[in-house]
Amino acid sequence: MKVHVFKEETAIGKAISLLFAAKILEKPDCVIGMATGSSPLPTYQALTELYEQGIADFSDVRSFNLDEYIGIDRSHPQSYYRFMQDNLFSKINIKPENIRIPNAAAEDLEQECLSYDAAIDATGGIDLQILGIGGNGHIGFNEPCDHFPAGTHSVALTESTIKANTRFFESEDEVPRTAISMGIGSIMKAKEIVMVATGTSKAEAVKSMIQGKVDPMCPASILQFHPAVTVFLDEAAASLL
Ligand code: F6R
Repeated sequence: MKVHVFKEETAIGKAISLLFAAKILEKPDCVIGMATGSSPLPTYQALTELYEQGIADFSDVRSFNLDEYIGIDRSHPQSYYRFMQDNLFSKINIKPENIRIPNAAAEDLEQECLSYDAAIDATGGIDLQILGIGGNGHIGFNEPCDHFPAGTHSVALTESTIKANTRFFESEDEVPRTAISMGIGSIMKAKEIVMVATGTSKAEAVKSMIQGKVDPMCPASILQFHPAVTVFLDEAAASLL
């Protein structure tokens, strides 16, 4: 794992956006893996700027998102579909048919999960995946548990994740309790991964991810076994290393 510590969150976003732009220059129809939450926002802002400057052209890029809540509609302001539209997709020239986000409204969720992984595989796999990390070490919605889930699957959110995500809703009661998430196996198939973590609330999880033993109780620790992971931290998130 390569680890970079930056002073500013905006610098992290710019640095990661350059990696995405380079990937697109190298392979214009590359497959990118997207995340939601606060961590990727500076990257999405910087990617928007690179698009506006004519440096990043998304016209052939294909994209898969890590996860989506079950139980709220795509039009809900906190759905991950809306998040991606509002924070990135509506601002760049990616084609709607090249965007895939797990369809949590599918009648057959099990089938949706299987076809999601099959669709990723059919592209040849994700070239560059961006990840955030939960305070409990989750990646995607793969919560701490006794094993590493392989494929895309439905998950029950833990209390700590529900509490952490309450900041986006009017009350804790409104936070969905379940979601669809790419599995650890699906994430580990990405050819290259960038991970962003900022703030002291991530410091423990970052330490376990990088320096702890590989353990499904810290799902992000599996990244130690991936050959091409770069971790971008601010000083607070790096403070326990
Ligand atoms: C989001 C996701 C989550 C977040 C994590 C950190 O698609 O998969 O794993 O990356 O919960 O969230 P933030 O960035 O809001 O601290």
